[in-house]
Amino acid sequence: MEPGREFEGRRALVTGAAAGIGRGIAYRLARAGAQVACLDVNEKALAETVAGIAAEKGRALSLVADVSSETATKRAVDDAVAAMGGLDVLVNNAGIVILQRFDETPIEDWDRTFAINLRAMFLMARAALPALRRSGAGAIVNIASIAAYRYTVPHVPYATAKAGVVAFTRDLAVELAPDRIRVNAVAPGPIATEMLGKLTAEELGRAGKHYLLGRLGKPEDIAEAVAFLASERASYVTGVTLPVTGGAELASRPVRSEDR
Ligand SMILES: NC(=O)c1ccc[n+]([C@@H]2O[C@H](COP(=O)([O-])OP(=O)(O)OC[C@H]3O[C@@H](n4cnc5c(N)ncnc54)[C@H](O)[C@@H]3O)[C@@H](O)[C@H]2O)c1
Repeated sequence: MEPGREFEGRRALVTGAAAGIGRGIAYRLARAGAQVACLDVNEKALAETVAGIAAEKGRALSLVADVSSETATKRAVDDAVAAMGGLDVLVNNAGIVILQRFDETPIEDWDRTFAINLRAMFLMARAALPALRRSGAGAIVNIASIAAYRYTVPHVPYATAKAGVVAFTRDLAVELAPDRIRVNAVAPGPIATEMLGKLTAEELGRAGKHYLLGRLGKPEDIAEAVAFLASERASYVTGVTLPVTGGAELASRPVRSEDR
């Protein structure tokens, strides 16, 4: 096998693959040889991800679906399995965030946040389960958040749903271990994507100075961790949530000589 082609012959499905972290994960897995089914509601941006992977001679296919719909997730997983001849890796990445204080949060926003960020993982995992069982070395990687561990900004439903992702990951890992399916999660810190808002390069640089490692994260930082957890290199790792935060949950700002 060529170096770096550890996903050769493996088939992956990535949700939220039209942008940001999901796009980064789809590229990373495709570059390592995986065939990648890219799922998103944003048809236009999804086509760009798939075309970008194809331009690099990778293999990707497009699945336009809303992860909050049981029918749509089932159909999308069935289509992916049929097109790729099976499924080995499921990455539950699609997510939304609605920034607002608790006392201004309508119940509809709580429900929508939970439907897309947590319930969708249940739907996707259930739909993918028969194919992952057939794989014999299946892996699920869920995207949680640093918000599961500490208060960051006003988004109580988001943080609560992400804490649910950690428990979902742990319990699914236990129940699916007999099927040789590993279940892990990555909890990103602040990553420079649309989710953080449209920031200029200067604003990103300034924001990065507030974090221990002096920069915000990139989609590639998360994609690297996902690739590890989904790969055979992590064949003895299950049920964990790996923080990839640049240390953001450890301290709120860098320690400089003048602070000592
Ligand atoms: N960016 C960050 O700082 C950060 C930090 C922690 C966790 N995360 C998590 O990482 C994941 C990806 O976030 P991102 O920053 O790349 O966000 P993003 O907004 O750039 O991308 C999210 C993608 O999910 C898709 N999506 C949204 N709702 C969907 C639905 N109902 N069905 C299908 N697709 C849907 C969007 O169309 C988009 O392509 C999310 O789960 C997010 O909560 C992000």
